[in-house]
Amino acid sequence: MNLNGKVAIVTGSTKGIGRAIAEALVSEGMNVCISARNADEVEQAVGELGEAGEGSVTGAVCDVRDYDEVKALVEHTVDEFGGVDVLINNAGIGIFGRVEETSPEDFRAVLETNLFGVFYCCREAIPQMKKRGGGYIINISSLAGTNAHPQMTAYNASKFGLNGFSEAMMQEVRHDGIKVSYIMPGSVNTHFGNEEPDESKDWQLQPTDIARVVLDLLHTDERSLPSRVEIRPSRPPKK
Ligand SMILES: NC(=O)c1ccc[n+]([C@@H]2O[C@H](COP(=O)([O-])OP(=O)(O)OC[C@H]3O[C@@H](n4cnc5c(N)ncnc54)[C@H](OP(=O)(O)O)[C@@H]3O)[C@@H](O)[C@H]2O)c1
Repeated sequence: MNLNGKVAIVTGSTKGIGRAIAEALVSEGMNVCISARNADEVEQAVGELGEAGEGSVTGAVCDVRDYDEVKALVEHTVDEFGGVDVLINNAGIGIFGRVEETSPEDFRAVLETNLFGVFYCCREAIPQMKKRGGGYIINISSLAGTNAHPQMTAYNASKFGLNGFSEAMMQEVRHDGIKVSYIMPGSVNTHFGNEEPDESKDWQLQPTDIARVVLDLLHTDERSLPSRVEIRPSRPPKK
């Protein structure tokens, strides 16, 4: 795909992986709508990302768990930039703990963010992509989408579900010229799980490593579709 002038939505893009992806897309000349729940951080990120390259940047406050807010996000993007070519479903949270200690509210929050939120965004973006004759949807999953761990039930369920959702949707929309890929990162140095990025963990992946995979996917030749990418730190601490 020639990215210059194309339009992308990146969810959860004020920090971490989403922010790095948005920056990479702007630097390729794409017009990008960023979003997250915190209004001040959205406003600040719009200003900062505007300096990242030739592409234009707009922002919308959007909790992906709220279908009406997702509708407004897509409408805002179409109003600002005329359509949608690329959707990066990145917004996600992790809440960890034993099943009997996990509150129903926390379990629901993880599933609603990591799975329902992706469904809402795809439901709204696909008709817009069909109007443009095609597009690309990239879902940020996790290695936890295939590898189960104790105290990860909610997160595992959401990402296993996201992988299945992505594969089924890929088969559904490929004949409309819409590609679907999902990326399964291992440990990335971000704010994930309410942590602060930790510079001492230099073995971890960086958000820019995931952004690079996104660019590689978008640049893939029209006829080929790498539908699932696993990426992990090459030298994690030995166990
Ligand atoms: N870090 C890792 O090790 C790792 C590994 C594998 C996969 N991943 C996946 O990568 C994605 C991004 O994670 P990250 O590590 O970059 O996390 P992060 O640094 O915590 O950033 C998360 C971003 O998503 C936004 N967000 C959270 N909940 C949201 C909601 N309900 N609606 C809209 N935006 C929301 C946050 O802003 P607000 O709080 O203001 O909304 C923030 O901009 C997630 O899907 C995660 O599962 C991460």
